[in-house]
Amino acid sequence: MERSQGRSDTVFRRGGPRMGVATAMKVAAISFAQETGITEIDTDNEENNPMYQINLQLGFQPMPAYLDFIKKFAVNGDQTGA
Ligand SMILES: CC(C)(COP(=O)(O)OP(=O)(O)OC[C@H]1O[C@@H](n2cnc3c(N)ncnc32)[C@H](O)[C@@H]1OP(=O)(O)O)[C@@H](O)C(=O)NCCC(=O)NCCS
Repeated sequence: MERSQGRSDTVFRRGGPRMGVATAMKVAAISFAQETGITEIDTDNEENNPMYQINLQLGFQPMPAYLDFIKKFAVNGDQTGA
């Protein structure tokens, strides 16, 4: 899979929740992509975000999850954690 060419969040401001606004926007985006010859769309979201169900309903396939790691250390170089 190639790296993403662009990405944006889906957010609605008007119309109220669960009236199909986000789904309609995403369907329109998919149609536009198909019309312009794009053959793959990737997206991501946190598993408890409503967008997860919308993506599943629109046929997006979950990919293997990955973990982010962070190691904190003091400015003087002291290590924290194991
Ligand atoms: C996520 C968001 C875009 C959804 O917009 P929406 O217009 O309400 O979505 P839809 O009406 O198209 O919902 C379609 C489906 O999504 C799921 N869904 C939407 N909102 C949900 C909620 N609050 N809780 C659980 N499931 C939800 C449902 O499966 C719903 O279908 P149903 O209503 O028939 O059960 C909107 O809540 C939002 O702007 N949230 C803040 C920003 C955000 O989290 N964006 C996504 C970043 S990844």
